[in-house]
Amino acid sequence: MSTATIRNVLRGDGDRFVYIVSALAALNGLLFGFDTGIISGAFLFIQDSFVMSPLVEGIIVSGAMAGAAAGAAVGGQLADRLGRRRLILIAAIVFFVGSFTMAVAPTVPVLVAGRLIDGVAIGFASIVGPLYISEIAPPEIRGGLTSLNQLMVTTGILLSYFVNYAFADAGAWRWMLGAGMVPAVVLAIGILKMPESPRWLFEHGRTDEARAVLKRTRSGGVEQELDEIQETVETQSETGIRDLLAPWLRPALVVGLGLAVFQQITGINAVIYYAPTILESTGLGNVASILATVGIGTINVVMTVVAIMLVDRVGRRRLLLVGVGGMVATLAVLGTVFYLPGLEGGLGIIATISLMLFVSFFAIGLGPVFWLLISEIYPLSVRGSAMGLVTVANWGANLLVSLTFPVLTDGVGTSATFWLFGLCSLAGLVFVYRYVPETKGRTLEAIEDDLRQNISLAD
Ligand code: BGC
Repeated sequence: MSTATIRNVLRGDGDRFVYIVSALAALNGLLFGFDTGIISGAFLFIQDSFVMSPLVEGIIVSGAMAGAAAGAAVGGQLADRLGRRRLILIAAIVFFVGSFTMAVAPTVPVLVAGRLIDGVAIGFASIVGPLYISEIAPPEIRGGLTSLNQLMVTTGILLSYFVNYAFADAGAWRWMLGAGMVPAVVLAIGILKMPESPRWLFEHGRTDEARAVLKRTRSGGVEQELDEIQETVETQSETGIRDLLAPWLRPALVVGLGLAVFQQITGINAVIYYAPTILESTGLGNVASILATVGIGTINVVMTVVAIMLVDRVGRRRLLLVGVGGMVATLAVLGTVFYLPGLEGGLGIIATISLMLFVSFFAIGLGPVFWLLISEIYPLSVRGSAMGLVTVANWGANLLVSLTFPVLTDGVGTSATFWLFGLCSLAGLVFVYRYVPETKGRTLEAIEDDLRQNISLAD
């Protein structure tokens, strides 16, 4: 996406309606971020309300990720069967029910059930939000709007940190978790004003309605776009998940799955979900830890904006290499600092700064570039199923990390856990260098041609 495109998107040039609709749809990203980030602060106080083992702690945090993996696994099919709009409405309702259940949970099992329910909504949102936006957006700004989704995810995380801070003094974890009901209601009301995706309407034989939506969201070229939709619908109907296994697609599948897993096993969500807990162990109090976490969330948003502005100029590969390289370095520092004595003194400050730098390096590389690349490297005919598969892998790896983090820090210590993430990052660096292609400035067709000619994507 060019800087000019971001400016246009942010300024709201062109057809206002499509921006309003996309902004409402991007609430899916906001909820994804909010509902994943909120646990970080709530968790400190939940620990005071219930007696729990490290495993149960991990289950409370990662319950949402298990739900999200399940939600993402069925989300694509549901979006096809019920329509994008209806699935967004269902996601909003499920978000509401999940948040409500957590807020009133009298016991740990009910809390876990609430996290699972909430997670299913997060999984739906992570699939249907970007899908809806990419189908409703005019082609010229599609890339820009796709990246804005990641910006909304980080904004949602930051918002959740503010809410955590607001309720931290009172230790009101039920209010923190219940706050997710507010954006859910906004999304539910908003969706009633949003039109169905023209692409979905067309696929379901509702050509006139598809034409009407395109007329509202495009300044021209409606008939030509309808022809193009027809062409894609015809190619797509011949393919399915089985076609993903075709040998010529293997390099793209390796890249997508590899990045999905490395995005998570390098430890970002150990920080995003457990930052206050980690910071507390450096000698900061409950409230100060949550405040420092707000700093981490702010840096995450700011660096995501920087990445969006750079990605079309310096390219995906370079951002990834610098980003993952920086993660290796900061994790090595964290591993060392947590190993040395004196954490509650000067070393605690180094630890806090290193955590912030670690998040910055994630936010200019693996964070946004993963989601962008997986929307670019798959041929249109298999894009839906490929992105679905890769998204499920991403949530699965997220589940693994958020479930095992408390167990690992309890068992082998925080220092060794950071070293482990550091080693995974090093492997990720090698992976990016060896396999990830540069897609900057290339058409999706050219990328697909290379695949068909059996050229390794990284050559
Ligand atoms: C990842 C999330 C993560 C977020 C942090 C996203 O790209 O998929 O797992 O929590 O970035 O900003």
